[in-house]
Amino acid sequence: MDLKGKTVVLGVTGGIAAYWAAEIIGVFRGREADVHVIMTENAGRFITPLTLQTISKNKVVTNMFELPADSDIGHITYAKKADLILVAPATANFIGKVASGIADDILTTTIMAAKSPVFIAPAMNENMWKNNIVQRNIATLKQEGYKIINPGYGKMACGGEGEGTLASIKKILKEIEEL
Ligand SMILES: Cc1cc2nc3c(=O)[nH]c(=O)nc-3n(C[C@H](O)[C@H](O)[C@H](O)COP(=O)(O)O)c2cc1C
Repeated sequence: MDLKGKTVVLGVTGGIAAYWAAEIIGVFRGREADVHVIMTENAGRFITPLTLQTISKNKVVTNMFELPADSDIGHITYAKKADLILVAPATANFIGKVASGIADDILTTTIMAAKSPVFIAPAMNENMWKNNIVQRNIATLKQEGYKIINPGYGKMACGGEGEGTLASIKKILKEIEEL
């Protein structure tokens, strides 16, 4: 998929790699995509909505019950307008919720309502990533047609090295552009 002129909804969840969202938005905007950010409440503990709003030049949404406009129902609006949804970074919690059909915030609800391709880029501690339940959830998501951008191997925020770091932006772009 060529990102030029496309509407990308970027979902950001509450992991340490959330700061990379700023870089991802910059790269997507450089390719002339219109980027709309949806953050979980916990993502806001790692990076501020103000930062992502300033870089994306669009309002950042975190609260499902604050409607963007009188006639808009937020999650449906974003699901409809997206040519593509990317969740980066995706926490173990978010992955588990989507795999189980839970839609209890604006991000999971938008994904439930979406018809566009959804890419999910997990990032977490190596033991979390290798946890059988997380892997089972990943397999479920793949089976349901979600595109998983596998994490890489590198320095962990919690110390040492391991598998589970957010895929490089180059890899994320490559997978999207190959669609
Ligand atoms: C400092 C810190 C770093 C964290 N990093 C990660 C992470 O990289 N990946 C992950 O899956 N969870 C991580 N967590 C746990 C999540 O924040 C937690 O599961 C949270 O419920 C996720 O919420 P969300 O999925 O709604 O954004 C971290 C927690 C803390 C306190």
